[in-house]
Amino acid sequence: MVKEEVIKHIDRLPGFSMTVAKVMHLSNDMRASPKDLIHAISLDPVLTAEVLRLINSAYFGMKQAVVSLNRAVILLGVNTIKNVAIGSAVIGAMKMRNSKYFTSDEFWEHSLGVATGSKILSARLGVPAQERDEYFIAGLLHDIGKVIFVQHLADEFARLSDPAYQPGVAKSEVEEKLIGVSHAELGMLIAKKWELPPQLLDTIHDHHSPKFGGGNDQVKAAVHLSDWYCNQSNIGIKGRGGMEMLSPEVWDILKMSENDTGDIFKDLGKLVEDAKVFLKN
Ligand SMILES: [Fe+2]
Ligand SMILES: [Fe+2]
Repeated sequence: MVKEEVIKHIDRLPGFSMTVAKVMHLSNDMRASPKDLIHAISLDPVLTAEVLRLINSAYFGMKQAVVSLNRAVILLGVNTIKNVAIGSAVIGAMKMRNSKYFTSDEFWEHSLGVATGSKILSARLGVPAQERDEYFIAGLLHDIGKVIFVQHLADEFARLSDPAYQPGVAKSEVEEKLIGVSHAELGMLIAKKWELPPQLLDTIHDHHSPKFGGGNDQVKAAVHLSDWYCNQSNIGIKGRGGMEMLSPEVWDILKMSENDTGDIFKDLGKLVEDAKVFLKN
């Protein structure tokens, strides 16, 4: 019963601006060319300025200032530009509030940590540079469903987020028992409403208990491991280590072992600082 009420809030979420909707649509359309994408973005001066601001930030480490979308696409590839547009639109549209166990800043820092961690893993797997931002966006959005809980079910969410509430049971399972829906499923429904790329829906839906073998395994494993790692190492939201299980299948899929994590993620804190440029809207 509660589930239906929660889902109604997703229906009421604002849609994206026409431009961003067009960008989403073009990114899902195999026949669309880079030219079509540049054209769609350039019709919206605010989005154009935002994309250029992000591309010129320390996060991308460009040696020279990039002043046009055409140049940005040549230097970074159409995928990166698409993902920068999606990332800035999503963060702009979802206003997170402070909740009892984490602030809005901590929430986004956790999201950026998982985004950046996933991108690091993609590079290690040899994913081509233009495709690594798929990992970043999947990580950035994995917990987006929590925004609905904090905005509309603040008391219930605070109650179940208490570490002392049903200790030993994963919080995502507690959400399902108490509210009837987990933040992972809500996140998937938000992504669906916004017509985000299909592989993102699956990764968001599965981020706590990934089911592998469906074709998206590396992205799913990267987000799942980065989420676990950020919780263990208190990047963003603090004190959540041990709340969710890590699926041991990730080590095979990501071609690494648990002993490698310290080395692989050694620069994560610094990179998250650079990635915070996404939050300054
Ligand atoms: Fe989560
Ligand atoms: Fe998370």
